[in-house]
Amino acid sequence: MIKRSLHGKRADEVFLSALRIKQRVKSLADKISRDYAGKEVLIVSVLKGSVVFFSDLIRRLKINCGVDFISVSSYKGAESSGEIRFLADLKESPEGKNILLVEDIIDSGCTLDYLKKNLLARKASTVRVCVLLDKKTARKADIKVDYKGFTIPDKFVVGYGLDYNEQYRGLPYIGILKT
Ligand code: IMP
Ligand code: MG
Repeated sequence: MIKRSLHGKRADEVFLSALRIKQRVKSLADKISRDYAGKEVLIVSVLKGSVVFFSDLIRRLKINCGVDFISVSSYKGAESSGEIRFLADLKESPEGKNILLVEDIIDSGCTLDYLKKNLLARKASTVRVCVLLDKKTARKADIKVDYKGFTIPDKFVVGYGLDYNEQYRGLPYIGILKT
């Protein structure tokens, strides 16, 4: 297992191995492919944390889909700032589209709740949510998670796209951050 040490902080407790993630992503992709068979869907990566999960997921899908990106910011370090800022929008209007939002992790749920409401307000036909990780115990917003990789405890995790102040995104596994 590759372990990388950065700036004295280590993510050396492998919480979800690359193999476990790969297997789970495959089964999620199979389910999404079945559910959206015969429908048009726009798969939207919520930047930046979901890019690794997103790129693995779309390569496993057996359906034709459009892809796009959206960017919001809600976190500074390991603490939520509580406020959501829109950094970049979809390239085209969501109106009339079946949208699947792909996120790395749902924590308070505020980010996805905000995005889902925003897209529906702009007349998206359907908006579903797919997350790799679900920190259930930290939830504040009442939002349905349609596709979920793993439920995890309320610990700060990094790797496979997830960062701590922009570090660790390139780790091939998910680790619990050690300070
Ligand atoms: P929410 O709005 O509280 O659900 O926040 C979700 C966002 O917070 C995610 O997209 C991540 O960017 C970030 N986040 C929450 N928990 C973690 C974590 O354990 N590691 C890295 N980022 C996290
Ligand atoms: Mg994120």
